[in-house]
Amino acid sequence: MYTNSHPAGGVETPLVELKNWAPNGWRVLLKLECLNLTGSNKDRSGRAMVDAAVRDGRLRPGMSVVEASSGNASCAIAAAAAAHGCSMTALIPPGMARDKVERQRGYGVDIRVTTDDQGGSDPDFRRGVARRWELEEPGRFHTLDQFTNPANPLAHEQGTGRECVQQMRLIRPSIGELGWFVMGVGTGGTITGIARALKDGGSATDAVRTIAADPVGSGVAPRLRGEAWAGGKLEAPDGIGSAKLPENLDASLVDDAVTVARARALEQIGRLRKLEGLLVGPCTGYALAALLDIANWPDDKLGDQPRTALLLASDRGEPYLCDPAVAEAVA
Ligand SMILES: Cc1ncc(COP(=O)(O)O)c(C=O)c1O
Repeated sequence: MYTNSHPAGGVETPLVELKNWAPNGWRVLLKLECLNLTGSNKDRSGRAMVDAAVRDGRLRPGMSVVEASSGNASCAIAAAAAAHGCSMTALIPPGMARDKVERQRGYGVDIRVTTDDQGGSDPDFRRGVARRWELEEPGRFHTLDQFTNPANPLAHEQGTGRECVQQMRLIRPSIGELGWFVMGVGTGGTITGIARALKDGGSATDAVRTIAADPVGSGVAPRLRGEAWAGGKLEAPDGIGSAKLPENLDASLVDDAVTVARARALEQIGRLRKLEGLLVGPCTGYALAALLDIANWPDDKLGDQPRTALLLASDRGEPYLCDPAVAEAVA
């Protein structure tokens, strides 16, 4: 393959069937977003948001994007921004896996670890800091704000989601209809964009049930289920979960939500590595564990939805191996 355009952004990622990992009676398809240029689903939205900001003149050569990021978005944005003569400054939470931080440095990202008085691990607070930097130095910083930027879900609707619809069409004769789509919620851009594409994808996919997989300590799942939420603390900054529903999440597209403990998510990335040879990050583990819960729902709750599910391998596992819990789970 030859390309004369900059390779940032998503590529046509493969959809693979998890023949060994799948629960009994289920077919599970995993879209390998981890094969994108900087290794995650964020390549899709990162490039789309940067291109949109350059197009309408908000981001100009020499400027830096400043963003509250848990790591993947900042690598993706840095790769896309470099092609426009721009750089990336990331406001990251304390406690992020060391290799994830080093990987960002490798992409030229200027890393600022936010202290507790700057919001610490609270993404909303860090977004506020990014907005303040932009206001204080508008010619130097621009924040894309992936939590509200419409180019984020749109990139997943027109890119990732449309690819899923096309791939499902091709394999429908052998696999049948898709029944379920399970995904974590960070900014909500990925789940929203893909769910939109699946529901708009024609009669065969419009009945897909979309389920959010959410970490313990996050308010996303309880809020989506309409339950009271007393507050909580995330066990680790894995890129998904937050206190409130992100603006880029279209909750009307999400049919249900499942809360998953980190230990169970890690157990599933371990099983995926052992049974399928795929080494993915913890985010994917939350979706895998949520699907196991769904597969155990009573028949009346499952209804006659086809027992075929789509999940994303949203990033690679390597950057997390310095986290002993991850290393132990996948060994
Ligand atoms: C690995 C990984 N998966 C999933 C997500 C969630 O994606 P989104 O922000 O589009 O909701 C993130 C967000 O940071 C992530 O890093």
